[in-house]
Amino acid sequence: MSVSDPTTPARPAASSERRPITVLFADIAGSTAIAERMDPEDWTVLVGEAFKRMNSTITSGTHRFVSALVESVDVGMLELKGKSDSVHAYEITGLRADAVKSRGLLGVRAPMIGRDQQLAKLEEVFSIVRAGQGRVACVLGEPGLGKSRLLAELHASLRRSGAPVRWIDGRCLSYGETVPYHLVVDVVRSLIGVNVAADEGHVAQALETQLRDLLGDTWAENYAYLAHLLSLPLAPEMRARISSIEMEAIKRYVASLVNVLRAMSARGPVVLVCDDVHWADSASVDVLLTVEAGLAALPVLLILSSRVERASAGWRLIAGARDVFGDALTEIRLEPLSLEDSRTLVSNLLHIESLPVEIRELILAKAEGNPFFVEEVIRMLMDRGAIVQQGDRWVATERVATIEIPDTIHGLLLARIDKLPRESKRTLRVASVIGRQFGVTILERLLDTKTS
Ligand SMILES: Nc1ncnc2c1ncn2[C@@H]1O[C@H](COP(=O)(O)OP(=O)(O)O)[C@@H](O)[C@H]1O
Ligand SMILES: [Mg+2]
Repeated sequence: MSVSDPTTPARPAASSERRPITVLFADIAGSTAIAERMDPEDWTVLVGEAFKRMNSTITSGTHRFVSALVESVDVGMLELKGKSDSVHAYEITGLRADAVKSRGLLGVRAPMIGRDQQLAKLEEVFSIVRAGQGRVACVLGEPGLGKSRLLAELHASLRRSGAPVRWIDGRCLSYGETVPYHLVVDVVRSLIGVNVAADEGHVAQALETQLRDLLGDTWAENYAYLAHLLSLPLAPEMRARISSIEMEAIKRYVASLVNVLRAMSARGPVVLVCDDVHWADSASVDVLLTVEAGLAALPVLLILSSRVERASAGWRLIAGARDVFGDALTEIRLEPLSLEDSRTLVSNLLHIESLPVEIRELILAKAEGNPFFVEEVIRMLMDRGAIVQQGDRWVATERVATIEIPDTIHGLLLARIDKLPRESKRTLRVASVIGRQFGVTILERLLDTKTS
């Protein structure tokens, strides 16, 4: 298997590659023999790829876990092969638009605290872009400090201001370093407005419509390359256009992407986000480096978010931006929230007057200014019944005095997992093997394999 081999040219021509994946999938359901023989990284790649091509009926058991993430319709009771009882099934119809924002406390929303300056800086760069010049901004910081949140707030603020902006969102997967082109593919998907759950026909249609609209007569050539990048099946006359693509893949992908961005930005400013680039694969980085270098002349704001990991492939994008843009590069480093801001965050999350001072101080001390930690500590207090909801506010119970808050975020998560029922724990364990984002069908099949 050489799926994760960085020297593998381009992405596989779509149709020939689909069959082995399907075959492999039949095997996942039947036995784990192949999985045991394979390199875990290759396995991850294949499972990720295969998910996109699978149908999407899930049982009510799985539905409980994923209903916050997917749109689904109740399809009633289904007979399943090999199972004596029928099961209650749901058909997944798509990802929820807000699915990726799976962080945050359920039902509790706090305004963003203490990032006014950083937001203002990004708005300022956008105004330069709006006036016609390309810019790159980097948002750097530890996990949980609010990189993604800051970008979401920028998006909301631009929308509120009525600025005409095309917002394109590319996200890296936690296991993405070994998945060639996954970031660029995500960018192109966002560009044509389809999500990971969309089927091939839908993606092909969206790509064609978008390119015809943006590029007029020259749409077909660009379609051929971008469809190849997205692993869409190509009609023979389309395939003829890309006969030599294996050699030229990167150049062609770049050219097509730039053509589209140029046409799009001619109609109004574009914001192109690449989130979590410390997980980017190097093929995507190569493409985006070239795109980045040609950006200065277009009204495009490229925003890169990343942890400070200088050895990662994605860091080359940040180093490259420094080379190309010099002083015109905007770098925002997110630091932990001040104690005062953390305090405000806690009170915004929990309108609790009765929360004992010691508990409040304990939350603050454990969270160390990291908003994600703040949320996690509070979530734990909720889970343990130390604070309970009464009407629209939360009140502390006497249990609050007996709660021990683990010292680290890791400890917090482990404590939370420990409280789960056995079945859920098993689900989590299997899921953790697949990666941070995955298809429910995959998870379900892997779980079934283990039980049967
Ligand atoms: N400044 C802030 N004020 C309030 N909540 C915040 C702030 N920054 C982050 N959060 C919340 O903390 C959690 C983690 O933030 P996130 O943006 O996902 O971090 P990162 O992308 O840096 O890993 C999210 O639920 C987010 O809404
Ligand atoms: Mg993030």
